[in-house]
Amino acid sequence: METKKKKYVRPVIARQQLGMMNKFGKAPISTLIDKIDDVDISELSSNYGTPLFVISEKKLRSQQRDALRIFKTRYPKVQFAWSYKTNYLDAICSVFHQEGSWAEVVSEFEYDKAKRLGMPGNKIIFNGPDKTKDALIKAINDGASIHIDHFDELYSLIEVTEKLEKTARVAIRVNMDVGIYPKWDRFGFNYENGEALDAIKRIMIANNMKLVGLHCHIGTYMLSTSAYRIAASKLTTLYKKVISDFSHSLEYIDLGGGFASKNTLHAQYLDASGIVPTFEDYADAITSGIFELNLKASELPLLILETGRALVDEAGFMITKVIAHKRLSNGRRAVILDTGVNLLFTSFWYKHRITPTQFYGEHTEDSAIFGNLCMNIDVIRDGIQLPPIPVGDILVIHNVGAYNMTQWMQFINMRPKVVMVMESGSVEIIRQNETLEYLTQLEIVPESLKLK
Ligand SMILES: Cc1ncc(COP(=O)(O)O)c(C=O)c1O
Repeated sequence: METKKKKYVRPVIARQQLGMMNKFGKAPISTLIDKIDDVDISELSSNYGTPLFVISEKKLRSQQRDALRIFKTRYPKVQFAWSYKTNYLDAICSVFHQEGSWAEVVSEFEYDKAKRLGMPGNKIIFNGPDKTKDALIKAINDGASIHIDHFDELYSLIEVTEKLEKTARVAIRVNMDVGIYPKWDRFGFNYENGEALDAIKRIMIANNMKLVGLHCHIGTYMLSTSAYRIAASKLTTLYKKVISDFSHSLEYIDLGGGFASKNTLHAQYLDASGIVPTFEDYADAITSGIFELNLKASELPLLILETGRALVDEAGFMITKVIAHKRLSNGRRAVILDTGVNLLFTSFWYKHRITPTQFYGEHTEDSAIFGNLCMNIDVIRDGIQLPPIPVGDILVIHNVGAYNMTQWMQFINMRPKVVMVMESGSVEIIRQNETLEYLTQLEIVPESLKLK
């Protein structure tokens, strides 16, 4: 396909003042991105249309490999389990599974999706507060690890396993004080008040349950590594207690997800790339928390990690077109894009980085970026320095790989294509754009309402 010719822009010589702020106290936009891996963005937009989600296979694999290498150099037994809810497009899960990750799911739908992709039960971790009896039966039969969230689920499991006369592999989710407030205590059994130990005692005396692990997930976008050290230390203390009190050895401890990606929160002044902890920082904290307990080498548990956003965010891009410019009543410039917050849920809490694909001169202006929904809340960035970008030209929104392609809403517009730039340099569609026919196939108009 023929690619669109770039618009001519008169050349200028501009004095570079790196690091200087402009009169609005913001650094001018200094980067432009015209390729994703080695593929021209103009080619992507003309071949697949806009808006368009683009995933880099190379980045997915390099993030996962880096994380695994960093943890494995600090601890002997490490296993990642891909957090489906972060991005459960089949192609993305497949990349992580090819890299050796298990599946971490939080609903029957996600469980079935993992099975459909070929994940065997013994590589599925089943989390979440809502597991139906049918879902529990599937998981027991498949030998999946069921992470119990509350006592009612524990009682259901006792009932189901007795009926099935089969043993369930179970772990408990533990919540605890790690120095971050408000505490995430709505999931799992509390550590400090003894609830977690109570749940363990009940499992140990049940006929058809085998306690195989302990799990916690202390929060998401966690900037504090010391919170992980505390969590690892408390979970390992409990692990040690199970060995000493019940002469029972567990297979693993699972520290959940929560590592921050390189997105900047609205409330952060500094750019995230300079302040979020690295995988090394998180790995040092977690493994130190485990080693604190002085277990013998033979007693060390497998360490499972359910990292989501930190692995996938930077591999995701949104390519979008400028559809209009406006002046707001206070004189500020507004730019309207052909995408909206229904596709970019994360713009509610992140200041997503947005870059042009070509140089438009050195003059930038403080701009508000709005989406194309007829809704006042459709603000993608409020306050970003942008050069004047002509209508019809392309902008790239960065670090959108996590949660957008699962929390996106079909609202006002249909959802667009998602493509993957493959390591080989080719481009593959990994999710087609929705069509009116696809969207209306579940709708039924009662006979009496049909227009005659
Ligand atoms: C149980 C569990 N594990 C893993 C994750 C992934 O978290 P993150 O994307 O913050 O790494 C989540 C997300 O909230 C979760 O609830």
